[in-house]
Amino acid sequence: MTYQEIRKKFLDFFEKQGHKIMPSSLLIPEDQSVLFTSAGMQQFKKYYLDSTSPCGNRVSSIQKCLRTVDINEVGDESHLTFFEMLGNFSFNFPEGEASYFKEEAIRFGYELIVKDFNIPLERIKISVFRGDLKNNVPEDRESLEIWKSFGISEDRIFFGDIKDNFWGPTGSNGPCGPTTEIHIDGIEIWNIVFNEYLSDVSRDGLLNGSAKLLPLRRKGVDTGMGLERLILVLQNQESVFETDLFIPIITELRGKNLYDYKSNQRSERIIADHLKASVFVISDGVMPSNIERGYILRRLIRKIMRHSEKLNLPQDFLQRSLETIINIYKEYYPELNKNKEKILNIFNEEFQKFGKALDKGTKEFEKGIIEFKSNGIIPGPYAFNIQQSMGVTFDIMEDIAKGKGMKIDIDGFKEEEKKHKEISKISQEKKFRR
Ligand code: SER
Repeated sequence: MTYQEIRKKFLDFFEKQGHKIMPSSLLIPEDQSVLFTSAGMQQFKKYYLDSTSPCGNRVSSIQKCLRTVDINEVGDESHLTFFEMLGNFSFNFPEGEASYFKEEAIRFGYELIVKDFNIPLERIKISVFRGDLKNNVPEDRESLEIWKSFGISEDRIFFGDIKDNFWGPTGSNGPCGPTTEIHIDGIEIWNIVFNEYLSDVSRDGLLNGSAKLLPLRRKGVDTGMGLERLILVLQNQESVFETDLFIPIITELRGKNLYDYKSNQRSERIIADHLKASVFVISDGVMPSNIERGYILRRLIRKIMRHSEKLNLPQDFLQRSLETIINIYKEYYPELNKNKEKILNIFNEEFQKFGKALDKGTKEFEKGIIEFKSNGIIPGPYAFNIQQSMGVTFDIMEDIAKGKGMKIDIDGFKEEEKKHKEISKISQEKKFRR
């Protein structure tokens, strides 16, 4: 089944179940407490709280998402920064017309995966929430019983704790609740969240037990299934980079036989993922800069620079890879085509402005850290100085260090960064004092 067919099957299924199909929101969220949209529910967050959804209580979407927490894991079989999330959502349960909760949410998951996508039960495992005393949330027996009623045997169901089977809130507060997850061949595919609580603090606070969880008067369902992982499973591939969502990009990079694919697999994957992420981020209006969203974009582009240098890719690879990415997605995101010129210009400018300095800085860093080889720790101030003077971002240095079996002293790095910020604040203040 192709990626186009998989997307369509998902949306058709939920449309048939009475869901209104909603377009993806931008990667820059309305909810300013997070930098980028990282889940399908973000554009609907308010409908779990006080607002009423103008599109009814059942909606479904395919949302573009960006997550950079695992940026240095990209390069393995399944980690990505940019991905699309398939989701179905229900608000205002039980009063709201057509709203639903556990019974139907689990039935939809079961029917789509087992009946429509034909995944045999032996490949499936389910997790449910084991409960959490600190936050006073009980074990989710109800979900366990519902799964059993669909013929999932108890030995295929396991219990997860608050870290794995309790989702949210996004940002500084908001809806959250226990989850049940569908795993296929050991990969987590679909997260089904039952929004039953309101947390007054962020997720960290919730995990350390300092949250006050209030039961929500109106319950909701929020589900998220990574499209790339679903395709990986349905196309029986070893990695997301071997699915038809990535093959054209990888083929493009290999086009001129400039590098050895086997020994450079990680770099190739990083370039493919980061290019895609940058294309979408720029198209949604972010410009490279040294703060916040712009800095994340800059970090992505610098990693592309570093790895394309490693693979000897000439600069015109940008133009061709960019066109390949737009071709894959333009049917679903027509804005990419419209913004093509802008995207290419921004890439070219960054490459031109920083390419040489980055290369020089990277080499200097590689040479400089030899003296720290014996204890394996690179002092924070040393790394910070390289970042400041040569534009080598932390991720790149961390990556190089890892490859040599070394580590950067992160606390020392942050300490130095703090000092630097204070110094520049003082000099700013002096400048404006009369
Ligand atoms: N919000 C949940 C997640 O991102 C389910 O959509 O996993």
